[in-house]
Amino acid sequence: MKLRFREDGPYVLDLEEGTRFLLNGEERRLARPKLALCRCGQSQDKPFCDGTHKRVGFTAPAGELEVQ
Ligand code: FES
Repeated sequence: MKLRFREDGPYVLDLEEGTRFLLNGEERRLARPKLALCRCGQSQDKPFCDGTHKRVGFTAPAGELEVQ
């Protein structure tokens, strides 16, 4: 599993196609096999990124974490 940190943006978790997940016990399905999680703390849809990081001028370096 790989977690990427987008420059000036969210954490992006790359998943397998068809992955399902539970959020607070509620099953969610994904349109794409990835999750973008808020890193700036300003999203109105936490824990997901809603693009607010661009409006608030969030800055942070890019990177990635790979769990093997
Ligand atoms: S990182 Fe995108 S809204 Fe926070």
